[in-house]
Amino acid sequence: MERINNPYRPIEAEVLKVITETPTIKTIHFKPKEPIRFATGQFVEITIPGVGEAPFTPSSPPSEKETMQVSVMKVGKVTDKIHELKKGDAIGVRGPFGNGYPVDEFKGKEILVVGGGCGFAPLRSLMYEFFDRSGQLKKLFFRGGCKTPKELVYHDETKEWAKRKDLNLKLTVDAADSSWKGNVGVVTTILDDVKMDYKKGIGVVCGPPIMMKFATKKLLHMGFKEDNIYLSMEKNMSCGIGKCGHCRLGTYYACKDGPVFKYSEIKKLPEIWD
Ligand SMILES: Cc1cc2nc3c(=O)[nH]c(=O)nc-3n(C[C@H](O)[C@H](O)[C@H](O)COP(=O)(O)OP(=O)(O)OC[C@H]3O[C@@H](n4cnc5c(N)ncnc54)[C@H](O)[C@@H]3O)c2cc1C
Ligand code: FES
Repeated sequence: MERINNPYRPIEAEVLKVITETPTIKTIHFKPKEPIRFATGQFVEITIPGVGEAPFTPSSPPSEKETMQVSVMKVGKVTDKIHELKKGDAIGVRGPFGNGYPVDEFKGKEILVVGGGCGFAPLRSLMYEFFDRSGQLKKLFFRGGCKTPKELVYHDETKEWAKRKDLNLKLTVDAADSSWKGNVGVVTTILDDVKMDYKKGIGVVCGPPIMMKFATKKLLHMGFKEDNIYLSMEKNMSCGIGKCGHCRLGTYYACKDGPVFKYSEIKKLPEIWD
């Protein structure tokens, strides 16, 4: 009850395992002292005691009840410390916050998920939610891109995903090395063979701002409706509960009204691709 009354109070969690995904991304598995339920696409604030806190979208399936995972790119003060975590360390977790993906509305639809770089993290959670609901979707496509094969997160998992009959998956890298047998080019170069009814289809895009911008343009060009394109917006955040104003996005607070928005809701805002 105390936590419900005080959304600023983190729940203590124990680090169970740390997986190095790429030279800059690690996945932290942890167990909160009180279970935290979340909807895919929502985010949590992770606290490193004595250092600070930062927002992350769980990369684990929402069906994983007792434990949670976040996949974190090392970019600064808090994320540097997260990369130093090891089994048994204590962290704090606040949340979940925000709205998540409206997965119930995706029933019976054809879905195209487009991810880039660290944007794979929330999408991994979404993909597991879709796998749990296998049979409810008409068709499911995943198109993912990263700079080089070394920067491809969830390497072994995506190999398993590629074997699934309920998923059409293709990955690409901007620059190949001798290990890479797949497509070379940015993620928009692997969207043309997605065969679906674009006018009725759902597009989900998550990744660095430049990738989201060009992927969204491509989806619109293909015929997707502005109302059917979902973007996950990573604005700078602090409180996570619509109080501090750090995450303002036009008339919205990304922490409360997002982080998932329909393109139609935010397309007129000048700062969406910043
Ligand atoms: C809803 C949401 C979900 C996110 N999910 C993930 C995730 O799953 N995995 C992941 O690796 N990252 C995620 N991020 C980005 C992550 O929060 C930032 O990388 C992190 O806050 C940087 O903290 P730092 O102290 O290490 O960096 P700092 O030392 O504060 O800054 C380093 C760089 O990161 C940028 N930055 C700082 N704070 C934020 C912020 N709150 N949001 C975005 N950029 C910021 C700064 O502009 C600067 O360029 C998410 C951000 C949001 C808002
Ligand atoms: S993070 Fe404080 S208002 Fe959104």
